[in-house]
Amino acid sequence: MSEHVLTERHDAVLTIRLNRADKKNALTRAMYNAMGEALSLAAVDDSVRVVMLAGGTDFTAGNDIKDFAAVGDRPATEPGAAFNFLENIVGFPKPVVAAVRGYAVGIGTTMLLHCDVVVASETARLQMPFTKLALVPEAGSSVLLPARVGPARANWWFLSGSPISGAEAAAAGLASRAVPDDEVEPVAMEMARTLAALPPGAVAETKRLIKAPHAAMVAEAMAAERVSFAAQLRTPEAQAIFASFLKK
Ligand code: COA
Repeated sequence: MSEHVLTERHDAVLTIRLNRADKKNALTRAMYNAMGEALSLAAVDDSVRVVMLAGGTDFTAGNDIKDFAAVGDRPATEPGAAFNFLENIVGFPKPVVAAVRGYAVGIGTTMLLHCDVVVASETARLQMPFTKLALVPEAGSSVLLPARVGPARANWWFLSGSPISGAEAAAAGLASRAVPDDEVEPVAMEMARTLAALPPGAVAETKRLIKAPHAAMVAEAMAAERVSFAAQLRTPEAQAIFASFLKK
């Protein structure tokens, strides 16, 4: 487990908490690995019925840009830690409740499409700045987001990379609820406990039924996105943007 990812137990709810506040919880490879490992263990632990994903005052500023800049050192065909984590969350059989405060950038927003309940602060700032970074959408978001919020909103959010408030995300259906900032974690925990108290077999089967019709489409999108993302990461336009961010 990474020092930047903590786990906490509250009865049958396992909280996976991002803990790298000085970097706004930007995700390193070690953090993806730790999150994936926590999910793998929770999947087979009958005493865990629900997982809550949380940060602190920020959810996450997305992938660590330093790792994006260093990607040229690895072959484009290697899956990478982010991809492995996404596979874990996509296939996770129990409910996942996300508690989102502050920044939720890049994968910080797209991973929410794989959470079953998303409680956002009204003032949270979600953003998918892929084009600004010379990148493309990932996590199956190129099909999941338009399906969730409609093409008109998804097109603008993806193409412009404009930020989205938590209130706007809830109004669009990207978040389940938007609440005042200090209520995010209590509300998310209450919803997690509600799900944890229900018969786990029926809850898991319900989740499976909800996801099954889209599973093949999501897998196909993720495979296509991965190829484009890996290629874009290695372009001079993207590498110049990462270098300029890291110089600041
Ligand atoms: N990767 C690496 N470091 C990051 C980071 C990221 N994705 N996001 C934030 N940080 C670091 C900053 O470099 C800074 O480090 P420093 O204190 O050592 O200089 C620290 O976290 C605080 O961030 P800062 O930029 O000073 O905070 P801010 O409130 O001015 O801005 C953001 C917050 C999220 C708008 C800004 O940090 C940002 O744009 N981050 C990049 C987001 C991004 O593009 N993610 C990838 C998506 S695919």
